[in-house]
Amino acid sequence: MIELNHLTKRYARVPAVNDLSLKVPRGEIFGFIGPNGAGKTTTIKMMAGLIAPTSGTVSIGGVDMARNPEKAKAKIGFIPDRPYLYEKLTGMEFLRFIARIYRVPAETFEAKARENLERFGLSDWAHDLIEAYSHGMRQRLIMASALIHDPEVIIVDEPMVGLDPPAVLLVKRIFRESAEKGVTLFMSTHSLGVAQDVCHRIGIIHRGRLIATGTLDQLRARIRAKDADLERVFMALTVPNTDAAPEGP
Ligand SMILES: Nc1ncnc2c1ncn2[C@@H]1O[C@H](COP(=O)(O)OP(=O)(O)O)[C@@H](O)[C@H]1O
Ligand SMILES: [Mg+2]
Repeated sequence: MIELNHLTKRYARVPAVNDLSLKVPRGEIFGFIGPNGAGKTTTIKMMAGLIAPTSGTVSIGGVDMARNPEKAKAKIGFIPDRPYLYEKLTGMEFLRFIARIYRVPAETFEAKARENLERFGLSDWAHDLIEAYSHGMRQRLIMASALIHDPEVIIVDEPMVGLDPPAVLLVKRIFRESAEKGVTLFMSTHSLGVAQDVCHRIGIIHRGRLIATGTLDQLRARIRAKDADLERVFMALTVPNTDAAPEGP
């Protein structure tokens, strides 16, 4: 479970994230969408404990991020938008490095590493240097490493960027399987098709504020367009004067 309470981050006069409150229950896939600069990455960095909020709180599986950061972070598998990989390690070495940080017991590591490399189609590359990996392979390795400690919560910033269609299908399948096992997933994405497809609920952030949350049907109801796709809902709620205008006050 993820709980954000009045989360605010102020860099300049205008807050990047403004009084954002949200609960994502166990087993839910929550999609976080919004225009560039809306505050998605800033929200995600606060959720992952990488930056401190100006005010408000983050709780992961009931553990407060500010009070107990190590315990909260141990519950998270975090996949950043611009991940860092060590080019001179092999895929397997990188997984071992990450597994040690998360204190995965050495006796379970081998089986977990094999399982995750297999899931992400990287088994044949386990002992090659990361410098030889393609962009998509690097991204899949990052995901494999983020799942190595069986996190309760997976937080992903833009998971689909640069993935080819088979990899997108694979990642969607893994997210669904994880959610079925009770993992809570929070993902920001520009791929509205993916969000519509895989997310149970969607939140729209605009200029730092969470302006709408709900299932696709609930969001459609907000703009009184029952067959609209997410793209149309998104445009209607974030760009003034599109055909389906948001409900008045
Ligand atoms: N480290 C920073 N210092 C100053 N401003 C920042 C910093 N990080 C983000 N911002 C600003 O905060 C706003 C939200 O950015 P971000 O969270 O990256 O948006 P998104 O991920 O939705 O594109 C933007 O206006 C951005 O310029
Ligand atoms: Mg971003």
